[in-house]
Amino acid sequence: MKNLLTLSGISNSEAITLLDRVQNMKTKFGTPDFEPTLAGATVANLFFEDSTRTRLSFSLAAERLGARVVNFSAAGSSLSKGESLRDTVATITSMGIDAVVIRHQAVGAGQLVAKWTGLPVLNGGDGAHQHPTQALLDAVSLREYLHESPLGKDLAGTKLLIVGDLLHSRVVRSNVDLMVALGAEVTLVGPSTLLPPGVHTWPVKVTTDFDAAIATQPDAVMMLRVQKERMSSAGGGYFPSVGDYIRQYCLNPERYERLGEKCAILHPGPLNRGLEICDQAADGPGSLILKQVNNGVFVRMAMLDLLINGDEN
Ligand code: CP
Repeated sequence: MKNLLTLSGISNSEAITLLDRVQNMKTKFGTPDFEPTLAGATVANLFFEDSTRTRLSFSLAAERLGARVVNFSAAGSSLSKGESLRDTVATITSMGIDAVVIRHQAVGAGQLVAKWTGLPVLNGGDGAHQHPTQALLDAVSLREYLHESPLGKDLAGTKLLIVGDLLHSRVVRSNVDLMVALGAEVTLVGPSTLLPPGVHTWPVKVTTDFDAAIATQPDAVMMLRVQKERMSSAGGGYFPSVGDYIRQYCLNPERYERLGEKCAILHPGPLNRGLEICDQAADGPGSLILKQVNNGVFVRMAMLDLLINGDEN
């Protein structure tokens, strides 16, 4: 594996192998068996779009493994003086870089960087395309929740709803690729105006009726953020009003109660509390939201190690 750009086409055994790598990293961390396998390496974190979780956890992951990190943010950089993506990347990688993490608003930015530099590239989110480490941390968290001994296990038969702004979401695309490969039965729920083009050809069920989907007694519900910044105004014409969206698609206290206390609640963050998810669901006993963040560091440790050192470890 040279790059981590997409989870499209991943097989069941490849997915289990990646999840097991993460689990083994997590088990070893903090024990005498843990080795700083990236000592002497330098990772470039290139963030052309805002981020809290992904940027910080890639930094922490690299540092835990002994690597140096150089952090680039579009804000405050020479992009404002007209420097191109290609020249920016060439400039930073000329400083002696072993791997690149990139988040960019353009689909395929990571692929270009991999082609230009020949370095291992990890996609930290490209437009509404892919966010592979997010889906991996979601799957690791859900697998841990469902299986006491998760190693070697998949998610066969797990009923998962993914709800909300599907159109603008890279998280949903990476999750469909990975969760379906792991055997989960995925149902996408959202207003018809926020369904991605071609969604009916995806290997999932699709509905606009959240309450009907809840009646199927899912094992897990992943709420997606309403991406207001990718809409021209608050609702951008995608739904009649914020109140209407809340009525139909918010995981509110009443829907949360109907799901039952065993249902796992996931959200990639950042949360719009009160718009797509209520406090009770976000902070309740079934919430995996902070576990997802915690597992994100181990996912990024495992993936940086794999791409820089290969799969000998
Ligand atoms: N889930 C996620 O990608 O969060 P950030 O935008 O904060 O990185």
